[in-house]
Amino acid sequence: MSSKKRILSGMRPTGPLHLGNLHGALDNWVGMQDEYDCFFFIADWHALTSDYEDTGAITGYVREMIIDWLSVGLDPEKSTLFVQSKVPEHAELFLFLSMITPVPWLERNPTYKDQIIQINNKDLSTFGFLGYPVLQAADIIMYKADGVPVGVDQVPHVEITREIARRFNFLYGNVFPEPEAILTKTSKILGLDRRKMSKSYKNAIYLSDSPDKILKKVSQMVTDPQRMRKSDPGNPDICNVFEFHKIYSDKPTFQEIDPQCRQAKIGCVECKKIMAANLINAMKPLHEHRAHFMANPELVQEIITSGSEKARSVAKQTMDEVRAAIKIKDSRKAS
Ligand code: TRP
Ligand code: SF4
Repeated sequence: MSSKKRILSGMRPTGPLHLGNLHGALDNWVGMQDEYDCFFFIADWHALTSDYEDTGAITGYVREMIIDWLSVGLDPEKSTLFVQSKVPEHAELFLFLSMITPVPWLERNPTYKDQIIQINNKDLSTFGFLGYPVLQAADIIMYKADGVPVGVDQVPHVEITREIARRFNFLYGNVFPEPEAILTKTSKILGLDRRKMSKSYKNAIYLSDSPDKILKKVSQMVTDPQRMRKSDPGNPDICNVFEFHKIYSDKPTFQEIDPQCRQAKIGCVECKKIMAANLINAMKPLHEHRAHFMANPELVQEIITSGSEKARSVAKQTMDEVRAAIKIKDSRKAS
């Protein structure tokens, strides 16, 4: 096997991915593919922890998510891309880990405490929701991952994973390494309204948005709020459109716009048009990839199937070690 360090990360399929996801997690994952032995998976069982009442959309989101991943450059030749529910060993490991995880570790998890308070349109007082980090721990240690690239919000979960792995090793012998969180820089890109880009704020530009849609959304972007009329001087330092220029336009372009804006020589409508054109241009390869995968559903299916088989063969091996350590037989094998 390769001597590369192994990393693993996952996303819940709760909706289409947007530019915030691209410049946060995804770009980071794509950049790690050569250096690490990468496992990336879609945590569809985790989506059930909060969406158990309304499960109809999950399968579609899984498909869309894999297409988004492929179109930004996650490469099944380099990385193992899989779906959690296609590797049922995760459920078995989750069960074993749940036996040894003290409830107070879960109750004091900051993410849990936050969400119980913040999300009040759903009943989250379930066993599964409390146990979310135990399933996540199973996801991670199943592959004996050394590192877990995640955003800062997920660090407590990696911390609980380390504690669970340590406890398992203490009770049953050394099976699991303790994974480290590899912190992903959060994307600086804001939503159309200058709040954090998020599906729930309806302020996102999606990877699946057509050029027309992008143009329309950009035209609705909040600019310098002080600038009412074209004849008012603007301030690019506080303008979100200008932030987008810095990402998608070349330096000469935004260096020229800066003084023009301050001297009211360019209007926001025109400025937005320039930015939108550059954004659409930057997205072109991604859109082309996307169209290719949309037109070839059997190819996408094949990528999911073969990635999940690869993951499963690793998971089976780990579970043999786990059962041996716990001294529990595999019920599927003759005794
Ligand atoms: N909890 C993660 C999130 O909401 C998703 C996830 C599930 C995950 N299992 C994981 C991330 C394992 C990293 C490793 O973003
Ligand atoms: Fe922002 Fe451009 Fe308008 Fe200036 S001209 S306020 S940079 S959109």
